[in-house]
Amino acid sequence: MKKITLALAGALALVVAGVLAMLARTGDDPGPPPTITAKLAPAEKIARGAYLARAGDCMACHTTRGGQQYAGGRALKTPFGSVISPNITSDKATGIGGWSADDFWLALHNGKSKDGRLLYPAFPYTNYTRITRDDSDALHAYFQTVPAVSRANQPHELRFPYDQQFMLAAWRALYFKPAVFRPETGQSVDWNRGAYLVQGLGHCSACHSQRNTLGAVSGKSGDSLSGGLIPVLGWYAPSLNADAEAGLGDWRPEHITALLKTGVSPRATVFGPMAEVVRESLQYLDDSDINAMGVYLRALPAQGVKPEFERDGGAQATAFLTAGAKLYEKHCVDCHGAGGAGMPPGYPPLAGNRALTMEQAVNPIRIVLNGGFAPGTAGNPRPYSMPPFSHVLNDTEVAQVVSYLRSAWGNNAPPVDSNDVNRYRAIPLD
Ligand code: HEC
Ligand code: HEC
Ligand code: HEC
Repeated sequence: MKKITLALAGALALVVAGVLAMLARTGDDPGPPPTITAKLAPAEKIARGAYLARAGDCMACHTTRGGQQYAGGRALKTPFGSVISPNITSDKATGIGGWSADDFWLALHNGKSKDGRLLYPAFPYTNYTRITRDDSDALHAYFQTVPAVSRANQPHELRFPYDQQFMLAAWRALYFKPAVFRPETGQSVDWNRGAYLVQGLGHCSACHSQRNTLGAVSGKSGDSLSGGLIPVLGWYAPSLNADAEAGLGDWRPEHITALLKTGVSPRATVFGPMAEVVRESLQYLDDSDINAMGVYLRALPAQGVKPEFERDGGAQATAFLTAGAKLYEKHCVDCHGAGGAGMPPGYPPLAGNRALTMEQAVNPIRIVLNGGFAPGTAGNPRPYSMPPFSHVLNDTEVAQVVSYLRSAWGNNAPPVDSNDVNRYRAIPLD
């Protein structure tokens, strides 16, 4: 009873916050006037916008697989239901062809549609709010040239009460504050450029961050990069500031740029949703921008120490790992090598590979089930891929081989069991 009263009180507080926020519609920030793009020739401005659209990976959500570019219709699954991406082609009736640069800015910076409707943060405006007015105007100029496709927007498929505008108003009052990126004076030009790209257009925190029960990203103004499970998709985006996960503090700068731009490096390769980010977005960025991102990521303060794992040396636990070792010899050794050394950069090493030993074991489980597809990039045009084993190995066998990888060649992480595997077997790749 007490619980129900508390829940009701919580819901009521949200409603009140929402109504108040809707009444106080003063927050529309027109933003600073553009300084650079206003002086650019139209063709240059459009080219700049096209580049920024890559950096923001606008295509990823606004295009369905095999669908027309930017015509929307992709269902983005959230724990609250699906949000369907809109048409952002230059079509006047169904796209954003009739939008002014101010309308466009209001969407990116303030998360509001042309008609004043509050937008769902499945559209990462909580990151894009960092974008300068100059960059917003260049993007707007580019989207006005994207061939018009007539495709009416579909309604979202969200559960009550998440389909209500007052919920969004409340959410925004709690978790969203529009703010353009402000350079830090004590930092280098490269660091600031990297921070601008990572926090803003790159929206890295949209995945690399824990979300609370209302889907808000943790950390000050939503730019924490301390790792998080991507809801519904079932992948773990590792912490970018923990050395036990994907912190890059001790990486050589050229290995970071190789990883981001080509998808492969001597120390790791990207897979799953990160392969898509490299394929659709990062590979197209200028070397100077990739370098700047590397400078910023490398300088993130290292957090957290991984506790040493004490292995159970009992007969049953040992037999489980021995079974895993046999499976490795049979199915994996040809590509990943006898000592887990791999053949980098094509076949990644498994010895000392942090992707295997994180507390969250979902990624190695999923790559063994679903296979892995490194992105095809200019720097790595013929990527090697990893075959799926979901039809070859049962849940126990996958658990055995993954547990073995987490225990062999100096790796030391807790084993996984067949329930862990079963949970991820049914999830499709995206
Ligand atoms: C992670 C997915 C995702 C990415 C990346 C993304 N969008 Fe969106 N966008 C959405 C969704 C979902 C909506 C609809 C939100 C709603 O209706 O509440 C949306 C809405 C919009 C709108 C408002 C359209 C309207 O009719 O109200 C604009 C404009 C827009 N996006 C532009 C962009 C641009 C420009 C980029 C790249 C810089 C981008 N989006 C990247 C998911 C995304
Ligand atoms: C759509 C979700 C998503 C977005 C957006 C995203 N990442 Fe990732 N990232 C992941 C996942 C999942 C992994 C784990 C798979 C892997 O290691 O490749 C990952 C892994 C990584 C790794 C570790 C790679 C390795 O194997 O050591 C780095 C570094 C990284 N991301 C950087 C970034 C940066 C920088 C951005 C922003 C430009 C970004 N990510 C945006 C999902 C995402
Ligand atoms: C035909 C060659 C091949 C075989 C066989 C193979 N792999 Fe892989 N594996 C790869 C390639 C290539 C990648 C990188 C894929 C990517 O980046 O998406 C990879 C990646 C991985 C990763 C992620 C590590 C990282 O940093 O990308 C794990 C874990 C893994 N393999 C485990 C296994 C296990 C366990 C088996 C046996 C059951 C196996 N592999 C069999 C080629 C292979």
